[in-house]
Amino acid sequence: MNKEQIPPRPDKNSLAGPPSNFLKDPLNYMLKCRQEFGDLVQLDMGFGSLYLVFGADEVAQASKDKALGRSATAKLFEPLFGDSLIENDGAQWKQQRTYLSKSISTDRRKEMHANYVQFANNAIATAKGSFEEAGYADIQLAVYRYVSDSLATAFFGQQMSYQDTSIIVDSWCRSLDCMSERLSSILPLPMYVPTPNNIKLKNQAKKIDIILYDLIESSLAGNNTKGCLKHILNHVSDKISKKQIFKELRAAYLAAFDNTATSITWLMYNLAKDPTLQNKIRDEITKLEIKDNEFLSGPMPLLESAFNESIRLSPPLWIVDRTATEDTMLGKYKIPKGATLIISPFITQRDPQYWRDPLKFIPDRFVDRNVISEHRYTFFPFGIGKFKCPGVSLSVMLAKVFAVNLLKYNDIGIYPWNDNKFDRGLVYRTGELNLTFNEIVNDNLHDKSDVCEEV
Ligand code: HEM
Repeated sequence: MNKEQIPPRPDKNSLAGPPSNFLKDPLNYMLKCRQEFGDLVQLDMGFGSLYLVFGADEVAQASKDKALGRSATAKLFEPLFGDSLIENDGAQWKQQRTYLSKSISTDRRKEMHANYVQFANNAIATAKGSFEEAGYADIQLAVYRYVSDSLATAFFGQQMSYQDTSIIVDSWCRSLDCMSERLSSILPLPMYVPTPNNIKLKNQAKKIDIILYDLIESSLAGNNTKGCLKHILNHVSDKISKKQIFKELRAAYLAAFDNTATSITWLMYNLAKDPTLQNKIRDEITKLEIKDNEFLSGPMPLLESAFNESIRLSPPLWIVDRTATEDTMLGKYKIPKGATLIISPFITQRDPQYWRDPLKFIPDRFVDRNVISEHRYTFFPFGIGKFKCPGVSLSVMLAKVFAVNLLKYNDIGIYPWNDNKFDRGLVYRTGELNLTFNEIVNDNLHDKSDVCEEV
């Protein structure tokens, strides 16, 4: 190894403040460190060193480095993801990832597509009902319902009841709060120690388990198993136990639903603020002559760009992390075995050295590739390298189905009263987002294939 250098390190006199501030408000602290120290920063914490990786070159290198494995903090999520692919590495991870990827292939998505359209329309109709009654509708709630129904069908072949969806959303959010507390503690106690936070986390995880396990049981009992469950039963059930199937599907469902719902809600936020963009996307829908139940397999450059620009500015999972399994180098700096690397799509995707007007919502930059830098690792809302999200196509499709079915018949606007306190917890969310609806009468957009001529 070459002569080792140490990355810049904040101390108590830094503008960013001492490294311990990272645990209090990680995003804010990282933003300050990026400004003060540049592309790679070392934080000396009581329990070891953290490396904050901001530069696209460093992120690119980290994505390929075989010495950077599953983050040790993944184990802290044990009550929610225990022994699923999300916690593993090596041969076991590879095998588990293969089951999951095959079970959400294009064919599976096509099989479920009509259900997704129906769930989108149900959620939109409910939101419009609230708007008619109250003058606004909470679109975040509508999107959670849509995504929850869609993913329950995709994974378990079963729709989820309204009440169960609410319990899952509530328990998941409470679990994340408990996780934040665990992550911000210098030495989180193992789950078998009955701290109030551990007990709360276990109770919330149990509520989620009961609902998801019941879904699997009723899907199996119905003799008409669909979705990923069907794929796994048909292709790999001789290799894994029922308990393991449950763990994989639970992990996939939990990894998917909040990120997907949050990214769609951000898209709605950005669309609602931009009536011109809504019109342009509506033109795109008209030109493509998309039928109401059509499988959205072809490109929709404008809508896809709006989605990308939305998750550029607001990647729901704004941190990904890795642990060094052996000593390695990042650029000219040594990363010792056991160190944790923190990589933030939020920060790199808003970095002025890579993006012109980084804080502005400009979907065209994805259409024209009009970005300052074409660097591959300036945009990675789905993560990097071998652990990159396997659910990209499914989530993009769910976003398109929701947006197409909403925009075909409605203009949306931001209700004047919104607190706009974006939630910067483990998932970066819009918070409650109240919208207004204006129904559109446009014969070009309305699908007439099911309409009988009056005689
Ligand atoms: C817009 C929606 C989504 C976003 C923004 C998102 C984002 C992410 C990110 C950032 C990671 C971590 C990657 C890394 O560590 O490098 C991840 C991992 C993962 N995501 Fe997604 N995700 C989304 C939707 C989904 C969906 C629909 C699924 C369903 C299959 C899914 C399943 C997973 C799984 C299983 C992992 C762990 C992969 C592994 O460790 O091998 N995600 N996702």
